Amino acid sequence: MGDKVTVPAVRARKGGARLRMVTAYDNPTARIADKAGADIILVGDSLANVVLGHPTTLQVTLDEMIHHCAAVARARPRPLVVGDMPWLSYHVSVEEAVRNAGRFVQEGGAEAVKLEGGRKRIPVIEAVLAAEIPVMGHLGLTPQSVNAMGGYRVQGKDLETARGLVEDARALDAAGVFCLVLEGVPSVLAEVITRTVSAPTIGIGAGAAVDGQVLVFHDLLRFHEERLPRFVRPYAHLFDDAVAALAAWFADVESGAFPTAEESYSAAEEVAQALRSEVGPSGG
Ligand code: KIV
Repeated sequence: MGDKVTVPAVRARKGGARLRMVTAYDNPTARIADKAGADIILVGDSLANVVLGHPTTLQVTLDEMIHHCAAVARARPRPLVVGDMPWLSYHVSVEEAVRNAGRFVQEGGAEAVKLEGGRKRIPVIEAVLAAEIPVMGHLGLTPQSVNAMGGYRVQGKDLETARGLVEDARALDAAGVFCLVLEGVPSVLAEVITRTVSAPTIGIGAGAAVDGQVLVFHDLLRFHEERLPRFVRPYAHLFDDAVAALAAWFADVESGAFPTAEESYSAAEEVAQALRSEVGPSGG
């Protein structure tokens, strides 16, 4: 299915064929993303919500993220594997951020890391880049700031905050991020940022005027029963399909329709007879 996707290859997609990014959290979801033609697999901290059952992304730990990233990397996928730095793994000090990003690469097999935030993250981004680890930026509705934002709210709706986000995007671009996720911002702001920065932008709830799109695997395939945000278009209904499949199996188990002889192992007739004679006739 083509060559391994690299950071320079992602950069080169600016203004070109739209980038296809999806989250994955384990070996099978990574294989599905790869086979379907993803360019980038993000081992997102949305792991906290859609896999681990936490209320926000703030509960997932670096160890958990690395554990899941390693399962993704073991699929040896063609897409670039990006590890999402969880909350508090890059906030305490620049040194800690570099070490934690390094763990994502060494233990998790990530080829790049993503971190949330604007100008205040520049020292961390520069230090991680100086350690030869490519960085993907993330601006707008940054879920790790849920408490500071007072909820999951579209960001940059007024001129002042929109201008602030353009400045953040410029700063991240100048620092050298290879790609920039724009989440939960008005389409016009994503369009302006996309025209302003040299790095490709990848939108989620940011309209169509960006260089690529990303969605959460479990949202896109409706692999849960939670409410979907308006920017998610479900392309399958895996939760309902899985419930129906299990219920059908349970019904077959109950009726005895499962398993059939074809789904079972046989022994030679004389072995079967000898074994049965040892317990006598089956009772009723
Ligand atoms: O954690 C995540 O899934 C993300 C994307 C949706 C951008 O950060």
